[in-house]
Amino acid sequence: MQSVKGMRDLYGEELEYFQFIESVCKQVMHQHGYKEIRTPIVEHTEVFSRGIGDSTDVVHKEMYNFTDRSQRALTLRPENTASVVRALVQNKLMEHNDPLKLYYIGPMFRYERMQAGRYRQFWQIGAESIGVSTPESEVECLILLFQFLHRLGLKKLSLSINSVGMPEEREGFFIAFKSFFKSRSHQFCPDCLRRIEENPLRIFDCKIPTCQEALTDHPLLMNSLRQDSLDHHKQLKELLTAAEIPFTENHRMVRGLDYYTRTAFEVYSGELGAQSALLGGGRYDQLVHQLGGAQTPAFGWAIGLDRLVTLVQSHGKSSVQHPSSLFIPLGQTAFRLSLPWLTQWWEQGLNIHLETRSVPLKKSLATANRQQHQFALIFGDGEIEKGIVSIKNLTSGIQEECSLSEVEAYLNKNTNH
Ligand code: HAM
Repeated sequence: MQSVKGMRDLYGEELEYFQFIESVCKQVMHQHGYKEIRTPIVEHTEVFSRGIGDSTDVVHKEMYNFTDRSQRALTLRPENTASVVRALVQNKLMEHNDPLKLYYIGPMFRYERMQAGRYRQFWQIGAESIGVSTPESEVECLILLFQFLHRLGLKKLSLSINSVGMPEEREGFFIAFKSFFKSRSHQFCPDCLRRIEENPLRIFDCKIPTCQEALTDHPLLMNSLRQDSLDHHKQLKELLTAAEIPFTENHRMVRGLDYYTRTAFEVYSGELGAQSALLGGGRYDQLVHQLGGAQTPAFGWAIGLDRLVTLVQSHGKSSVQHPSSLFIPLGQTAFRLSLPWLTQWWEQGLNIHLETRSVPLKKSLATANRQQHQFALIFGDGEIEKGIVSIKNLTSGIQEECSLSEVEAYLNKNTNH
């Protein structure tokens, strides 16, 4: 039996990196006042079709839809922003209109074509800053993001920003873009011919190189924006400069989800290849209203944890390995007599794994080496008689005697327990 295509088991070193990144994420979120939210993995399909937009690839081609035994139309969440908004409307989390800062870590599901760094069950960490419409709230959320990435040891990242305006501002652009498109429609793929009718912005997401080429000299959405949207964009750029966060502008970057208004951004890493965004996000001032809540501005981002792990493994910090020891009691009496000591050491916070097999010492030591323990603590008849433990350093091979009452001090002195 095999796992489902595009869905994999996490264990060993890769999982250690997941846990390391999650712990750094929690520290940074806590510092900035973002609180965790956990929403169900399954939602009514409508949450995403209304929230993300029917014309997007995510809703059109990639969702895991099914009906339950009561014929409800349900979907495995392909992203979490729409779910978080559904949760905030349902649970009235904005009752006092105070800004709400939330984060999440969890699996998402998209039926995408398989390639490196792209899975059908993948993980996201996301942050959503809800209730504030200012560029200041955007820069705060972006500073949080870059602190997180820097703390993981990642530096060579490029931030691309754009403004996709408000829906009413896009009308003028659509007229200009449609006539541009008409003049070269034969150069676009069948999907783009559909997109021009449903939502012309989606043509910018098309991954087919000939479609990207056909877009050369396209009219700019930026030219249709009102003064307030242009000012918003200008202020964001000034704030990013003040925060010393380098960025470039990319007028083709519209993001693959329909809910964005004004600011949209992505972060790339050269190591992942030009096509793969490490993360993306932006402003979504109409989503809360669209999903049944009051008009509420919001801004956020989500990062692909699977891609982040690959990057941190190769270019960032190593996940902190906690040194440990293997305690090897030789025989039943030794095992029994060691239990009160072990209980005490565990309570003192030491990382001691216990050998529970009845096997020759040689075999236990081989296991201790393979599991990369720093010390083997050997406890046999001779040790019982003297009230000691023999501590073998598995790197140097040197073995020392240590009285039972000194084990904590010895390990604390010689390891980073
Ligand atoms: P997204 O761009 O669709 O945005 O996804 C964010 C990130 O999730 C991507 O940049 C990528 O790293 C990762 N990702 C997406 N699909 C896959 C996949 N199949 N395999 C591995 N990683 C993947 C959103 O999901 C928005 N909810 C972000 C957001 C939050 N906007 C505002 N708030």
